[in-house]
Formats: sequence, structure tokens, C-alpha cells
Amino acid sequence: MVTPFATLILDVADQIATLTINRPDKLNALNRVVIDELGQAFAHLETRDDVRAVILTGAGRAFVAGADIGEIAEAAGTAAGLQGVAAHGSAVFTRIERFAKPVIAAVNGFALGGGFELALACHVRLASTHAKFGLPEARLGLIPGYGGTQRLPRLIGQGRALQLILTGDQVDAETAARLGIANEVVAPDMLPEAARSLAKAMLKNGPLALAHAIAAVTGGAALPLEAALALESEHFGAVGRTADMREGTTAFLEKRAPTFRGA
Ligand code: COA
Repeated sequence: MVTPFATLILDVADQIATLTINRPDKLNALNRVVIDELGQAFAHLETRDDVRAVILTGAGRAFVAGADIGEIAEAAGTAAGLQGVAAHGSAVFTRIERFAKPVIAAVNGFALGGGFELALACHVRLASTHAKFGLPEARLGLIPGYGGTQRLPRLIGQGRALQLILTGDQVDAETAARLGIANEVVAPDMLPEAARSLAKAMLKNGPLALAHAIAAVTGGAALPLEAALALESEHFGAVGRTADMREGTTAFLEKRAPTFRGA
């Protein structure tokens, strides 16, 4: 199924939505339209019961080569300046991070600047051997503004994150995997199938368990440990009240496969 986005292609099959950023002539750079449509697409996918996981990827040779530099230069000269641009993009990326269904970034090529930050907002990242990750903002006299200064140090540690941010250097897929940025590296032609099979492995589990696990991990990341552990307990209690939890434990004890119904 295709929905009427100017810059995104949406395809749904087997309960998995593939959202492709489709501005290949500009290496899928994030202009205002792409950011807005990403927000609209995730709002749309949230309401669709036939979608249980999302794969985010880019058309052509890039995942996303960053925020649209032309628009950034223009916005910097306006009264609202870049703070509003950053807040708007960040809100959309946070919506993706808090999405209640798994979101997998299939990083097919350049993931630079806002593109790297978009991948960081996804729950897991698969990289093709062609992928390149980098935060080149400092080379433009900028800093990352869509979560890069916060999500990257939380993922790989402050020293490693600062090295990438302060140099603007790109790293290849293997280095990204070694640093913990990419979960796995696969051959370019295997990337779509690898992303689908990872989604399918997740979808064997109950949707409520997946939603509560995502909420506990992403919600807890910003909290002190004690509050984060309390949050985990709340989610543990909430899944404990579901029929899916009773089905999962009963199926184990009865030595059969569970049938989760999302209730
Ligand atoms: N914003 C706007 N346009 C961009 C862009 C961006 N972030 N990244 C690439 N493009 C455009 C180029 O301007 C070019 O458009 P044109 O054909 O109309 O001139 C097109 O995409 C192809 O890019 P090009 O630079 O010709 O490809 P390349 O293979 O020589 O280089 C990159 C690829 C990714 C190394 C290079 O495009 C680049 O450095 N992009 C900017 C990355 C960046 O700084 N991102 C952070 C932004 S805050």
C-alpha cells in the first residue's frame, strides 16, 4: 500500500511497514517536508493494527546525508533561528524513539548528521557494508541538533561520542558495529531481508511485551537508576496483568508455542 507522501514511500507487508525516505537526488537530506512527513507517517502507523513493526531506510545510495544544509543556512538568518528547527526535528525523532512498536533502521549508505541522529532514534540499527556514519556538523560551524549530542554518548560512551562529534570524522559499518552504533553489518543486497527477518523475530513475541519493553528502556534511559528501576517495575506489573503474559507462561509450562493476541 502506498500513502500520499511527497518524500516517503510506505509499503506494508506481513505486519511490517517499510518507510523509505525518497529524495535520492539530495541523498535524502532532511528538509522540513521530510521531517513533517516522518511525524505524520509515524502518527499514521501508530493507529494501524495491521502494522506491528517499522523498517526505516533510504532510497538510493544514502540512508540520509543530514539535515538540508540549504534550509539550515536559511533558517539561521530568521528571527526564530535554529533553535526552533532543532526542537521540531527533535520532537519528531523522540516520537520515533517512543514508538510502541519496534523501529529498525536499515542503514543502506550515508547516515550523516541528522541521518545518523535519525538512526539513533530508531530502536536498533542494521548497517550495510556501504553504510557510513558521522556527525559532520562541527565542520559546518554547527553542532548536532536532533539528539546526537545526547543519544550517541548514551549509546557508546562520552569519549567515543565526543571524538566523532569534535572531529566530524565518518566511520564505516564495521567500525560502527565495533563501537556499538550498528547492531549488525550485512551485505548491501541482504539488508532488506535482514531487517525483515529481525522484525519477524521480534514479532514472534507479544505486542504488549514489545511495547512495554520499549517504554521501559527508552523511558528509563533519561532517569536516575532508582527511578528507572521503579519505571521498569511499573511496566513489569502492567504486562503481568495481560492475557498475553498468562498465555506465554502457560504455553511454556504446557510445552507448546504461545499464541499472543495483544491483550
Ligand atoms: N543537504 C542538502 N543537500 C545535500 C546534503 C545535505 N545535507 N547532502 C547532500 N546533498 C546534495 C548535494 O548538494 C548534491 O546536490 P546537487 O546534485 O544538486 O549538487 C546531492 O545531494 C549529491 O551530493 P554530492 O555531494 O554531490 O555527493 P558526493 O557523493 O560527492 O558526497 C557526501 C556525498 C555525503 C559526502 C556529501 O554530499 C556531503 O558531505 N553532504 C553533507 C553531509 C553533511 O554535512 N550533513 C550534515 C548536515 S547538518
